[in-house]
Amino acid sequence: MTNKDNPTSAGVLGPELIVRTIRGSLHSGILKAAVSLDLFNIVSRGVDDVDGVTEAISGDQRIVRMLLDALCGFGLLAKLDGRYSLTPFSRSFLVDDPEAFASSADYREVFAVQWQAFGGMDQLARTGRPVIDPRKFGAEASYWEALVRYLIPFAVAPAEAAARLLGFDGKARRGTRILDLACGSGYLGYRLAQLDPEAAVVSNDWENVLKVSRSVATKMGVADRVSYLPGDSLSLGLGSGYDLVIVSRVLTTMDLEGKNRLLGRAHSALKPGGAVLINDPIADDARVAATDQLAFALLIAGFHEEGGTYTFVECREWLAGAGFVNVKYHPVPGESSLVTARKA
Ligand SMILES: C[S@@+](CC[C@H](N)C(=O)[O-])C[C@H]1O[C@@H](n2cnc3c(N)ncnc32)[C@H](O)[C@@H]1O
Repeated sequence: MTNKDNPTSAGVLGPELIVRTIRGSLHSGILKAAVSLDLFNIVSRGVDDVDGVTEAISGDQRIVRMLLDALCGFGLLAKLDGRYSLTPFSRSFLVDDPEAFASSADYREVFAVQWQAFGGMDQLARTGRPVIDPRKFGAEASYWEALVRYLIPFAVAPAEAAARLLGFDGKARRGTRILDLACGSGYLGYRLAQLDPEAAVVSNDWENVLKVSRSVATKMGVADRVSYLPGDSLSLGLGSGYDLVIVSRVLTTMDLEGKNRLLGRAHSALKPGGAVLINDPIADDARVAATDQLAFALLIAGFHEEGGTYTFVECREWLAGAGFVNVKYHPVPGESSLVTARKA
């Protein structure tokens, strides 16, 4: 990968990249305002024109129109004859609805924390210490519950790619035993379980986060094939004989010892021939081109004392150290990549 391949790098945009980057928080600010003002819930209640929304938030009509139109530009609202409506994405992720995967309330919580991290980057570089109190991310911290719902959109493309890679898109897979370590919402494993009607999933995370996983499993129609393993994935008994172990968006927050330990435990839990599936924003080997993934390291550092983004070469080394063979890198559209490896 070179930065000429990357649509958000200076190699492609030229100096416009500087202005675009300074302005990068504009989109974030617009969505932040929309969830702070509860616009998606207001529209979902049928208040669907500029005057109605202006009245509902006691706002300014000119700016409310701009905000609603900008959200149409994002694909988060639709407009027909001056009436706004939710789109499938905003209906699934941005309203307080029992059927939705996440709500504006989750995003309000995440925005508050992420903007604090964005604003504290210079302080982070001086001190090396997370800008956000690490206790917010400690074992069983309640913030994880909102965070894992917020992360579901990041699991959608990797889940489809993983399904294709691992043969879940035909009739080949039957009765796959899946262990999802630090599963968060569990979306990735549950999507695979939807595609293999005899699959069984063991979901591991902290007990409070598993409340979220349970509700996602129910929404995805696989709850009767999921069991739960609450507790620390680095020390808990995980069982054995699995066909597939998922390690998604968790290695980036661990120190080297934690990563080696987790991958070693994944290896032990697999049956011979079983596969590990890693999903993460992975940087290019030279660490010069993967714009979003290299930037993501600074977001992680804003919250965690350890970790950051890693390269495929590093990941291959950890996997080989844990005993895995046949290690492969698979690009996915979007921020994440997948890595697969087998137990011999
Ligand atoms: C960034 S989220 C990723 C969740 C999910 N795997 C995904 O891809 O969306 C990290 C998850 O790891 C969990 N976690 C972190 N350390 C853990 C540990 N030692 N044992 C179990 N779960 C852990 C957190 O509770 C959180 O749900």
